[in-house]
Amino acid sequence: MLKLKGTLKISGDKSISHRALILSAMSTGKAKISNLLESDDVMRTLKILEALGVKIIKEENNWIVYGNGTNGFIEPDSSLNCGNSGTTARLMIGAVSSNPITCTFIGDSSLSKRSMSRVTKYLEKMGADVHLTNKNYLPLLISGTEQLLPMKLNVLKASAQIKSALILAALNVHGKTKIIENTPTRDHTEKLLRYLDVNFKIRRLSNKVKQIELNGPYEIKAKDIEVAGDPSSASFFIVGALIIPRSSITVKNVMLNPTRIAFLDVLKNMGGKIKVKKTKKICGEDVGNIQVKYSVLKGVNVPSSKSAFLIDEYPILSIAASQAKGKTIMKGVEELRHKESDRIKSIIYNLKKVGIEIREKDNNLTIYGGKLNIDKRIKIKSFDDHRIAMSFSILNILCGQKLTIDNKKCISISYPDFEKHLNYLL
Ligand code: S3P
Repeated sequence: MLKLKGTLKISGDKSISHRALILSAMSTGKAKISNLLESDDVMRTLKILEALGVKIIKEENNWIVYGNGTNGFIEPDSSLNCGNSGTTARLMIGAVSSNPITCTFIGDSSLSKRSMSRVTKYLEKMGADVHLTNKNYLPLLISGTEQLLPMKLNVLKASAQIKSALILAALNVHGKTKIIENTPTRDHTEKLLRYLDVNFKIRRLSNKVKQIELNGPYEIKAKDIEVAGDPSSASFFIVGALIIPRSSITVKNVMLNPTRIAFLDVLKNMGGKIKVKKTKKICGEDVGNIQVKYSVLKGVNVPSSKSAFLIDEYPILSIAASQAKGKTIMKGVEELRHKESDRIKSIIYNLKKVGIEIREKDNNLTIYGGKLNIDKRIKIKSFDDHRIAMSFSILNILCGQKLTIDNKKCISISYPDFEKHLNYLL
């Protein structure tokens, strides 16, 4: 059977790539962005910034952004198409809301079923004028204003996208905006703002609750940004190496932000042989190499308190669980219903197809590790969800390539080089 072997430099991080473009566009001056992830989602953000009057050019392998400042967006001539990208939609709605322009945001059929009111309800309170389809969805019309009210915003949902949208809005608000985050989520926006020397305060109100206090409007001076490697992209090969006998790989240049690598702890608890070595810090983020060897895995309990830090890794963790001895329970995974597909449904549908017992009750997912039952070709449905397609591409190696995955093209949403990198490791 095939195995994974060798050393791979992982592609740039999706979350940081969006933020590098947006924050450079909102800075004054010229920023060079290196190692930007050129995936479909990130390119949506780039095109939207161009439509808002920001000059962006590619020079060799780098992207040069000529920032217009925090109040520099120009009203676009046509609607802003976010494609499949929830991050583009949520972050850009926030970013334009404190500029005196009117924009229409649209997206593909999947994105048009995902909640936007989770962001706009705060922006409306601050004074933006928003019209949503069926009170929650794209297409959405937003008229922003430089007179958004400075206020205290209590964010109850564990969502980095909501938090980041409000931070971006607050950068051009005149006065103090306080954003209370009740459950910790990924903190790339805060880290990148610190790197860009933006002066704002973070106060811990309790162990879990933090307050981000911004006092705008800000003038941000552009700085070059290097994008660290994406741990979520690395997770596919890491799990692949753990479950495919005789595998041994090293993934290099992986961002080691604690809000992103909780999946490594889960896999280590399962018995995974994983070694992490920090090598450097780039633009406020720790980066390092991860060494992984084939391991005999056992089932574990994954508590709901970890869910915001595992949000994009549940599909590939489900593949690991399917190959572990005993049962794995992933608790409190409700937010998975609101991703590029209903990931609870997508995982259950496909794991059942390969003969794995899996149950869902009260938003807890229980997977019984066991033998794959594959005597003929099996069709896997990606539900046009990149992370489902990549997760089952990894399982496909164990299945002797007997799985046919529909619409593998959707992988380019987050990881255009996935197939190339997988083939390199095989
Ligand atoms: C993201 C945050 C996460 C994640 C998404 C990217 C971000 O969503 O699922 O892929 O870049 O802020 P939520 O934190 O909104 O659930």
